[in-house]
Amino acid sequence: ITVRIKDPERVAGIIRAMKEQGTHKLQVISDFDMTLSRFGCNGRRCPTSHNILDNSRVVSEEGRRQLKDLLHYYYPIEIDPKRTLEEKRPLMVEWWSKAHELLSQQKILKSDIPQIVRESDVMLRDGFDELFNRLHKYNVPLFIFSAGVGDILEEIIRQANVFHPNVNVVSNYMDFDDNGVLRRFKAPLIHTYNKNNSVLRDTEYFQQLSARTSIILLGDSMGDLTMADGVPSVENILKIGFLNDKVEEQRERYLDAYDVVLESDETLDVVNGILRFVL
Ligand code: C5P
Ligand code: MG
Repeated sequence: ITVRIKDPERVAGIIRAMKEQGTHKLQVISDFDMTLSRFGCNGRRCPTSHNILDNSRVVSEEGRRQLKDLLHYYYPIEIDPKRTLEEKRPLMVEWWSKAHELLSQQKILKSDIPQIVRESDVMLRDGFDELFNRLHKYNVPLFIFSAGVGDILEEIIRQANVFHPNVNVVSNYMDFDDNGVLRRFKAPLIHTYNKNNSVLRDTEYFQQLSARTSIILLGDSMGDLTMADGVPSVENILKIGFLNDKVEEQRERYLDAYDVVLESDETLDVVNGILRFVL
């Protein structure tokens, strides 16, 4: 595990200020895939919430191949440090649209989801239970803002017994017909690079939490940095980023954008350490 911090004094200052402000001022905003869930397990890549569906037995072999082709074409674009967000955005819309279209042709049943998740290789990062349980204990709201599949990620945290009432999820949700068969995904489409106000329909959420001006933001992508844009007033914000892939190429940019950068870390230990101090 390598923890990199560009400006340690600033980070220490933010954490001290959060502690002084107190529990009732804090909220946590987190990405899901590859942030709360693991990037690698046993030397292999862990699945994202999309991959869980892509690889499941409810998808035909042909469908699986097509979804894998999309991943191999678009994922390198998603993380390419040489392309701007403006260049990436339309391509991400293309990826998500094509994948959702393919998945919607597979006659996936709502009732299949618990088993699809149980049979997958997904793993939450070590220390997830401490994170979720401590936030619940202190009534600190946890907002999960995900470009993944909401139905899948909710099932993951439900099966992990940590889907507490302080957890709120905004993500891509499946739209089932009256027979419980997947027919499409609900709008708005959330992809890696529009995780901001533009897709937050329910502005009530952050308005209600307007007194919570201390924010811990957890992400793994450059697109996660705008997740707190809907918060009406921010006094202290600490951005913690997991740098999972293309580490050497992306390090500088991550260090400029995130206050704390975690490399080769499959745990939530750093976040839990900070929360133990603040709460
Ligand atoms: O929860 P999060 O916002 O991280 O979810 C998005 C992730 O899912 C992206 O980083 C992307 O690599 C991945 N993805 C995928 N298959 C798709 C679309 C996105 O694995 N069809
Ligand atoms: Mg992610």
